[in-house]
Amino acid sequence: MADVLARLTDVSVHFPVHEGVLFPREVARVRAVDGVSLTIHKGEVLGLVGESGSGKSTTGRVLLRLQDVTSGTVAFGGQDITHARRRELQAIRRRMTVVFQDPEASCNPRMRVGDAVAEPLRVHARLTTGELQQKVLALLDQVGLDSSFALRWPHELSGGQRQRVGIARALATDPDLIVLDEPISALDVSIQAQVLNLLDDLRKKRGLSYLFIAHDLGAVAHLCDRVAVMYLGRVVEQGPVEDVIAAPRHPYTQALLRSVPLHDPLAARARGLQVLDGEIPSPLAPPTGCAFHPRCRDAQPSCREGRPELVALGARQTACPVWTGDAQLPIQS
Ligand SMILES: Nc1ncnc2c1ncn2[C@@H]1O[C@H](COP(=O)(O)OP(=O)(O)OP(=O)(O)O)[C@@H](O)[C@H]1O
Ligand SMILES: [Mg+2]
Repeated sequence: MADVLARLTDVSVHFPVHEGVLFPREVARVRAVDGVSLTIHKGEVLGLVGESGSGKSTTGRVLLRLQDVTSGTVAFGGQDITHARRRELQAIRRRMTVVFQDPEASCNPRMRVGDAVAEPLRVHARLTTGELQQKVLALLDQVGLDSSFALRWPHELSGGQRQRVGIARALATDPDLIVLDEPISALDVSIQAQVLNLLDDLRKKRGLSYLFIAHDLGAVAHLCDRVAVMYLGRVVEQGPVEDVIAAPRHPYTQALLRSVPLHDPLAARARGLQVLDGEIPSPLAPPTGCAFHPRCRDAQPSCREGRPELVALGARQTACPVWTGDAQLPIQS
């Protein structure tokens, strides 16, 4: 399709686990990502949600080519970049950038804000000192920081301001796609909303695409067009955000939604604290059949057998052996 910007096809990432000091040998494999296919269209925001350890960051790193795949393919801008070499990657890194969760990590403590924002421009663009200065100030302005911030050190900033610097850096090379790996999780609730609004404005003004990785569905509802829900390295449900949130089909998506904190404390008290039972199992030894079945309140004996594939109904895809919609069609990869 012409408007596809990035695509992961049947991507798996398995990390070997070794034992032994002098002669380490592989004893197991962590299946961090296990057969994930995702598509991001031009100008689209795709949310990626799931509990801690479900493989979201690893998926994002695969797309950024910071992590090699065990199998599967990665395409960006119509080009297969699965095995792209350094030179090709340099061009790709200009068009696809990243903002991490921890604003501290995105700011070098020995670099003033202006230099931090100028850094990607120095690598990727040939600008005169005057042009560079203009561009840095324009970028700071776009993320809501005035020119005085250029001379500040990272320790002189609040968490929200530091994350704005991280966003300015990610915007510097005029990318088509930004991978946002939990960009608001470390921030105060009131600042979270400001940063989400900033990301939304920037996306509209610049026609950007995002892969927005988040723990909860609340932030996803605000920013995303589509959402993919991951559980133990696999996508269990994906579709337009309003459909998935209004009528989640997979019991895991339903449980995730019930665990979203309500912003109205009294309503939250009335509803009671609803958490997902049990912990996410180890990706070293995922449960047989549907990996969610040991925690699923709708589980049937048959859920222990066979691995459920995503099936499509309309724009939605769900991988639940119990859920049955009309006219289910197997996904063609
Ligand atoms: N380099 C690595 N070596 C071995 N295991 C790894 C490595 N990186 C990630 N993992 C494992 O892969 C699984 C998925 O990790 P990942 O960081 O992708 O999860 P996540 O969904 O981003 O979690 P969180 O929400 O906590 O950030 C985890 O079990 C993690 O321990
Ligand atoms: Mg992560």
